[in-house]
Amino acid sequence: MKTIALYNNKGGVGKTTTAINVANELAEIGRVLVIDFDGQANSSRFFAEPKAGLDMALIHADYSPVSAVSSTRYPNIDILTSTPALNLITAQFVRLSEEEQTANIRKVLEVDGSYDFVILDMPPAFNALTTKVITLCDSVFVPIELGTFAIQGMPTVTNALADSNAKFGGCIVNKFDKENPADTELLALLSDLLGNKVLRTTVPFSRVIKNSFSFRLTAKEYMKWTAAAQAYEDLTKEILERTE
Ligand SMILES: Nc1ncnc2c1ncn2[C@@H]1O[C@H](COP(=O)(O)OP(=O)(O)O)[C@@H](O)[C@H]1O
Ligand SMILES: [Mg+2]
Repeated sequence: MKTIALYNNKGGVGKTTTAINVANELAEIGRVLVIDFDGQANSSRFFAEPKAGLDMALIHADYSPVSAVSSTRYPNIDILTSTPALNLITAQFVRLSEEEQTANIRKVLEVDGSYDFVILDMPPAFNALTTKVITLCDSVFVPIELGTFAIQGMPTVTNALADSNAKFGGCIVNKFDKENPADTELLALLSDLLGNKVLRTTVPFSRVIKNSFSFRLTAKEYMKWTAAAQAYEDLTKEILERTE
């Protein structure tokens, strides 16, 4: 089982979109569980009707997260949904001992142990819970939307990953506009900053990706033949290469 997190303390950068489309690629080669760690429940609603349970499982040792797992219309993808209740448990979570925190998160990540891949759609937050979760993953990828401030903010993200001993798989440049010279320049700046921690594959800014999400389709279901939909194939290969 490989546990892969999509994480950034910024919202709107494509964590959820990436989680869904990468899960769709991984479903070609194995069984996938998407865990929605975001109380906004966007990936939950994409796949199923959100059910409570993840919040309780994270704070109570004997509460099983299985009740919050739903099958989806994708035969190889299940979703462990979140609800807004997840936003309210951080204070209770931090009162647990280190061991209890670790055990509760592991119980969630391993649910029933039958998945080949577990994809974590993380919330835009740095806190005790999110930090602990990413520490227990096999790799953490940070989707970003290029911009001067996003690049200036990257050391904060990478330092937070390093401080928590998380395994930083790399930075995914999302919404890349290759026609825009500013984007090319910003990508070069980011590469100077992070070296080979910038994934070779960029995901284009694309109406196909935006619209597919609105229609609750993966980019491939919506327009399989487009470069935007195909980008997730290359991205997923690279994510796997970078996950031990
Ligand atoms: N490559 C892309 N091209 C165009 N729109 C995108 C792309 N990736 C994400 N979006 C859009 O950007 C918005 C935020 O994406 P989302 O995945 O919800 O971000 P996050 O989970 O980081 O908050 C959504 O409306 C989504 O459809
Ligand atoms: Mg999201």
